[in-house]
Amino acid sequence: MHILSCCCFFSVLLLLITACIGGEANKRNVLLIIADDAGFESEVYNNTAIQTPHLNALAKRSLIFRNAFTSVSSCSPSRSTILTGLPQHQNGMYGLHQDVHHFNSFDGVRSLPLLLSQSDIRTGIIGKKHVGPETVYPFDFLATEENDSVLQVGRNITKIKLLVRQFLQAKDDRPFFLYVAFHDPHRCGHSQPQYGAFCEKFGNGESGMGWIPDWKPQHYTPEQVQVPYFIPDTPAARADLAAQYTTVSRLDQGIGLVLKELQDSGFGNDTLVIYSSDNGIPFPNGRTNLYWSGTAEPLLVSSPEHPQRWGQVSQSYVSLLDITPTILDWFSIPYPSYSILGKDKPVHLTGKTLLPALDSEQPWSTVYGSQGHHEVTMYYPMRAMHKGSFRLVHNMNFKMPFPIDQDFYVSPTFQDLLNRTQSGRPTHWFKNLQQYYYRERWEMYDVSADPSELRNLASDPAHRHTLEYMKTQLVKWQWETNDPWVCAPDGVLETKLSPQCRPLFNGLQ
Ligand SMILES: *[C@@H]1O[C@H](CO)[C@@H](O)[C@H](O)[C@H]1NC(C)=O
Ligand SMILES: *[C@@H]1O[C@H](CO)[C@@H](O)[C@H](O)[C@H]1NC(C)=O
Ligand SMILES: *[C@@H]1O[C@H](CO)[C@@H](O)[C@H](O)[C@H]1NC(C)=O
Ligand SMILES: *[C@@H]1O[C@H](CO)[C@@H](O)[C@H](O)[C@H]1NC(C)=O
Ligand SMILES: *[C@@H]1O[C@H](CO)[C@@H](O)[C@H](O)[C@H]1NC(C)=O
Repeated sequence: MHILSCCCFFSVLLLLITACIGGEANKRNVLLIIADDAGFESEVYNNTAIQTPHLNALAKRSLIFRNAFTSVSSCSPSRSTILTGLPQHQNGMYGLHQDVHHFNSFDGVRSLPLLLSQSDIRTGIIGKKHVGPETVYPFDFLATEENDSVLQVGRNITKIKLLVRQFLQAKDDRPFFLYVAFHDPHRCGHSQPQYGAFCEKFGNGESGMGWIPDWKPQHYTPEQVQVPYFIPDTPAARADLAAQYTTVSRLDQGIGLVLKELQDSGFGNDTLVIYSSDNGIPFPNGRTNLYWSGTAEPLLVSSPEHPQRWGQVSQSYVSLLDITPTILDWFSIPYPSYSILGKDKPVHLTGKTLLPALDSEQPWSTVYGSQGHHEVTMYYPMRAMHKGSFRLVHNMNFKMPFPIDQDFYVSPTFQDLLNRTQSGRPTHWFKNLQQYYYRERWEMYDVSADPSELRNLASDPAHRHTLEYMKTQLVKWQWETNDPWVCAPDGVLETKLSPQCRPLFNGLQ
């Protein structure tokens, strides 16, 4: 062998080895799975009435967070916070995106899919998108309600499996971010009542229901379900929950199919898998509320590189606002320095990367909340903070009745609650409608002593210091996140020169 060719041979070999090592080290992907209105109806969270074998399998390879919260209890706003790391009041997605509601994020927002694609990461979304505008939330691969039926891309788990396969088997060497957004177990009594209150009959093979080949529906009787403290224990609510459980069986099996596709395509060992949901379950005191029942979310984070804490339960307080920082950290992408609405309002993420928790338990104890609208007619601005065992909710428009959404209104549980209230029969609910509609401006609960958040401590002199401390922290976060509502309801924010709250003297305390 000539010296030259020998040299050449070794350099090529060296190049190949470096390429291989480099390729391996950089090969990191993300699969984000978000369920729609899902809660703790799973064995992972100790519900013993339901069977969720595929979530169990994922949990065995995950850190299980039991204090994870969404910052906003509404679909589009929550998805916008997941995909931007910014609360709804900062990214502009104040309410639902579809139809008359028509909410969108600000044009200048640098979302997760945007930042990832700028770093040469392939992005895909399968299922429910429900955010806009398109320029803020661009995806390379897209199969959503925008170009298909949401039942197909969000509930037909065979179709979802095939779409995931198509994405994963594309000839493309870039790392990927795949976002699978199931529409299950959302209600559908408002949109497709022919399939049942939770679309629990869609694709079950019965006449007129169509067939989803990969789904074996799991049925439950109303007697079998566990009724959470915030749901009336009535036959109507139990039947509603039984239907929801059946739909959870489709979600669970769908998750199993998606994870199998990931394994079969050879990405099982280099993909961070995150599972959560957008908001509380669609029952009274749940979705659209900033109480525990409206904001607590399941959260599983599964990293093939961090087996140390697989199957463990973390008590750390984490937020869906942490998902964007976590994924950026996983890909080692810094968050850019920029502003959305003007030079005087620089944007930075107030969430944190969750990766350190995969090594060891973290002392995180604080999360924040911010809600504006659900439907366009449902304006009820609230800000919240949860620290340790205390939750503070600021109901800015507390003099108006709490609004009710269309899809929840027609639900069997709420109709039954209305009927019972109207006819003076026992409601078997932990609140009454009057209390639910009319709230105090400040609500503060000690959830360790009062897990159902019924004893408002805001006017209790014994807790004055805690209240003042939490109010101060909450307002600090509002300033930090450029909250236009920071002075409401007793002041007006004047932003010229130095931003400040100017008093209204409207008598509110
Ligand atoms: C489920 O219950 C067990 C036993 O009480 C407990 O150790 C575990 O933390 C619970 N899991 C969750 C997710 O709360
Ligand atoms: C949806 O859009 C993607 C491209 O973004 C395309 O591949 C897919 O075929 C479209 N689906 C339908 C049903 O049009
Ligand atoms: C679900 O999708 C599969 C594959 O596209 C299709 O064969 C099946 O008919 C669909 N089922 C329903 C209920 O739409
Ligand atoms: C993942 O890694 C484990 C242990 O290193 C190995 O046993 C398994 O075969 C790998 N799986 C894949 C899909 O590469
Ligand atoms: C509630 O009352 C209305 C009218 O009185 C009736 O149509 C409806 O079926 C009732 N719903 C439930 C869940 O009892």
